[in-house]
Amino acid sequence: MRFTSAALPALLLSLSSAATAFTPSAAFKNVNLVHVVSAEKNYVKEVINVVVENIAGSPQDEYYLAIPSDKFAHVGGVEVKDRKDAAAGPFTTESVDGEYIRITLPTPLAAGAQQTLGITYYVLGAYRPLPALIAQDDKQYLVYDLSAYVPSAYETLKQKTEIKFSNSDVPDYTKFEGKDKDLVQKQGAKLTYGPFETQPAGALRPVSVRFEFTKPVSHVQRLERDIEVSHWGGNVAFEERYHLVNHGANLSALFNRVKWAQSAYYNPQTFALKELRFPLRAGSEDAYYTDVIGNISTSRFRNGKRESLLEIKPRYPVFGGWTFPFTIGWNSDAAAFLRRLGGSYVLNVPFLEGPKQQEGVEYETVRLQILLPEGAENVKFSANIPSSSIAASTVTLHKTFLDTKGRTAVIIEARNLVDEFRDREVIVTYDYSLLASLRKPIVVFLSAMSLFVAAYVIGSVELKFSKK
Ligand SMILES: *[C@@H]1O[C@H](CO)[C@@H](O)[C@H](O)[C@H]1NC(C)=O
Ligand SMILES: *[C@@H]1O[C@H](CO)[C@@H](O)[C@H](O)[C@H]1NC(C)=O
Repeated sequence: MRFTSAALPALLLSLSSAATAFTPSAAFKNVNLVHVVSAEKNYVKEVINVVVENIAGSPQDEYYLAIPSDKFAHVGGVEVKDRKDAAAGPFTTESVDGEYIRITLPTPLAAGAQQTLGITYYVLGAYRPLPALIAQDDKQYLVYDLSAYVPSAYETLKQKTEIKFSNSDVPDYTKFEGKDKDLVQKQGAKLTYGPFETQPAGALRPVSVRFEFTKPVSHVQRLERDIEVSHWGGNVAFEERYHLVNHGANLSALFNRVKWAQSAYYNPQTFALKELRFPLRAGSEDAYYTDVIGNISTSRFRNGKRESLLEIKPRYPVFGGWTFPFTIGWNSDAAAFLRRLGGSYVLNVPFLEGPKQQEGVEYETVRLQILLPEGAENVKFSANIPSSSIAASTVTLHKTFLDTKGRTAVIIEARNLVDEFRDREVIVTYDYSLLASLRKPIVVFLSAMSLFVAAYVIGSVELKFSKK
């Protein structure tokens, strides 16, 4: 089953341009900090493990994470936990002034007390290929610019930055001179800067790394994911429209299909995107895959006991700078996602499914639309993704053919997520009465009746005409 999406204006995250520069008060100091930067995937994952100490005279519950302004618009998926107390939480996150993420601690930290935070976030569109143009069978190298001192709103007594790569081919990285020479160490696929002595708030030390990454840099500019719940059909229909771009290196010469076909035999590493694999829930069926031209037959769908797998191939390999817009869809038994609780229903669906690729996939915008049956009321929802990633969310009416009132749609738009958020849940609860459930069949019956009456009237009119 397919359906069209509501023509709603795109809702975008509005980041206040920092006209009135906000500076967090020096309520904390970072006693010890380890900054782990993973460049193993086609997005950057950064983890900051830090022992923070409240140096203000009163309890504090707001810690500010500083993000360099040039990266801010590309940072997402911020999550925080207490490294020593897994049960502590929830920590909420919120963007402030395009420069900071405000982390609200679950309980205020007493004056003089310490807490060990584990802060995780992702940087999208983080790399630039160097060289920017390469041949179709070349290795690809990417550059990432960062600061060896973690950007911070607070004084940091002791810190180090570790950068992890997918292999040890790291031909270029910033080295230090003189007495700091030994503060840069490369061991295999890991590079360490530090440990550094006390640095004041806001201290930066720019460094740059260049590493081999001959894999596609798959960037989904926009994913529109529609989930349509039908009580009558006992069905949940999924449709996903992707606008994907490879952010890898551009080709330095025209694509050579013959050379490509010859090398395909050896299945070499390539920076072109050749295939996407979508693990789906067990019991998924009727999978389809289309692009702007139409149905694509180069897909495989397997329905296993524990999970189903949809594998699709683009019509051509997608090299750096090339785009790949496509649509997939499938149906599932509603019993796998929907539970009845008295007169209410609980729907539990993944916020994001998407391809599972060894090299990773990043998502600039994800717009999830869940269409509930007509007459669903008292709708509540919650999504298990970081609060600072949600750009907009709303419950609205969506009218389609044969709907009298319109179907209730839950729309959640998120920014800057990565494939690690696959399978995070969205839970929607709603009331749905027997009367509401009868509405659609009655409408169908009445329309059929009116068609019959209309046909009869038209028929008799024609009869009169034909007599003339
Ligand atoms: C595309 O494939 C689907 C499912 O196999 C089929 O129902 C549909 O008619 C096809 N559409 C076109 C345009 O070929
Ligand atoms: C790479 O290709 C894209 C799309 O054609 C283009 O916009 C971009 O400028 C190219 N980059 C370089 C460095 O040539």
